[in-house]
Amino acid sequence: EGPGPYSPTGQHTKVPPTARAQSGAYLTSAQGLRLPDSDHSLKAGPRGPVLLQDHHLREKITHFDHERIPERVVHARGAAAHGVFRGYGTASAVTKAAFLGKDVETPVFTRFSTVLGSRGSADTVRDTRGFATKFYTSEGVFDLVGNNIPVFFIQDAIKFPDIIHAGKPHPDREIPQAQSAHDTFWDFVSLHTEATHHTLWNMSDRAIPRSYRMMEGFGIHTFRLVNEAGETTLVKFHWKPKAGVHSLVWEEAQLVAGADPDFHRRDLADAIEAGAHPQWELGIQTFPDTPEQTFEGIDLLDPTKIVPEELAPVQPIGLLTLNANPVNFFAETEQVAFHPGHLVPGIDITDDPLLSGRLFSYLDTQISRLGGPNFAQLPINRPHAPVNDMLRDGMHQTAVHGGVAPYKPNSLDGGCPFFAGAAEGGYVETPVQVPAARKVREAPASFADHFSQARLFWLSMTPVEREHIIAAYSFELGKVYEQSIKERNLRVLARIDPYLCEQVAAALGLPAPDPAEPLAGPQPSPALSQLGQTWPAD
Ligand code: HEM
Repeated sequence: EGPGPYSPTGQHTKVPPTARAQSGAYLTSAQGLRLPDSDHSLKAGPRGPVLLQDHHLREKITHFDHERIPERVVHARGAAAHGVFRGYGTASAVTKAAFLGKDVETPVFTRFSTVLGSRGSADTVRDTRGFATKFYTSEGVFDLVGNNIPVFFIQDAIKFPDIIHAGKPHPDREIPQAQSAHDTFWDFVSLHTEATHHTLWNMSDRAIPRSYRMMEGFGIHTFRLVNEAGETTLVKFHWKPKAGVHSLVWEEAQLVAGADPDFHRRDLADAIEAGAHPQWELGIQTFPDTPEQTFEGIDLLDPTKIVPEELAPVQPIGLLTLNANPVNFFAETEQVAFHPGHLVPGIDITDDPLLSGRLFSYLDTQISRLGGPNFAQLPINRPHAPVNDMLRDGMHQTAVHGGVAPYKPNSLDGGCPFFAGAAEGGYVETPVQVPAARKVREAPASFADHFSQARLFWLSMTPVEREHIIAAYSFELGKVYEQSIKERNLRVLARIDPYLCEQVAAALGLPAPDPAEPLAGPQPSPALSQLGQTWPAD
């Protein structure tokens, strides 16, 4: 019961309890009317025409007609579970976030996903995996919306529509549902070489995980932690699975995609049901918050770069245990709405330009995906902290707000809610120095290095992992129709490692390019007609 709608007479001060679905012993209409039959339309005689006056028929069919909502524009395919996060208290020196305190337990909901396939696509495709966790903390919701690969394809969010348009299935045939085996993807990543590092991870075994339970997770961006004294530390978040990191081999992934396209979601649900609750340790790499925001020469605002763990070890700060399956896929897994801007005191953002765009995009997309601005009221999205906002009305409003003065200051509703300073748990943005600068559309010079960390990753691989990477490039590029795209990708590989380049070139039946050969710009695409594309006459 809430504080009732405004009534000058003081009547109607109680809001009726929220209507609950599935109460009572009888089948009813949406209006609570008991129904004698739900199998037969109302007709003029058993063999006569169906009558328009059959409201039950129309209500049942109409509701069914509107059962689907748009799938997520990315990460449409996913599976999720409830759990609990226990803080170790080891982060208390660097952050005041209450949920990271020693032995503080916080309910969570974690959703794993593939990025590019549609809602019904197979689980074991070669793709990046999403790893998003909603912490229902005592200070409000904190979302850590990460991936299982520690770097990203682009450095600036303005390019997100480009990488996704290139990575999604071709607009004409809507194939493939798997990530990589198509011209548009390889066209883009070879023309846009900041994608090289992420693409190399995608060609590694990390992109075909054995199980969601056996994946690492990464916050990717550098975040800024703030402690009680107001001191700041830059950090990167890591999830480390207690079950270890394991992958399928490509042949397994392909067979499983056919034999059991639901392999990962089944595995997660079965494990939890059997009591084998998957666990991950949350850890942070910490870096001094200097004006340069670099560490050992690595630009911390560049999401295509990692900081090697040899330079900054991951320090464990808490334990995630997933222990309960959703009761209803639609209500929970489909309607959950993560947002990298859902932060709590003690955790702040940095000026990573990829993160800045994300802070806009998620709320925006969810307004259309979840039908208006009130989806925070859905049970799966509701904070477990008191909510007293002045947001009102809108599509799918289910709260009955009391009072007449949803504005501040006001003198009518018996006083309005207070502002909270830092001492009262208010979220006060860290007063970081913004550089005096010209307004420009350009990237910092440090973002221009697209190959050194890709090479670092390649060199860190064991021989068998390298063979898998070579096989993956050979398979995926082998499916590309356009010869010039294959050649351009070989020139990118030549900049990572000559052996990698030679092996893939041999598999494609093409000469290995000289690493000094310039990366060509966009090529005309006469062979597009081979894709079945028909162009309007000139
Ligand atoms: C969804 C991660 C970059 C836009 C997601 C999800 C994850 C994720 C895990 C699925 C959340 C869920 O399970 O519901 C990431 C990571 C990124 C990144 C780790 C880079 C470090 C971006 C960028 C944009 C973007 C740059 C846009 C500018 C979206 C959108 C959705 C989404 C629109 C769908 C959200 C929804 O419908 O609820 N992302 N993303 N992402 N992401 Fe990102």
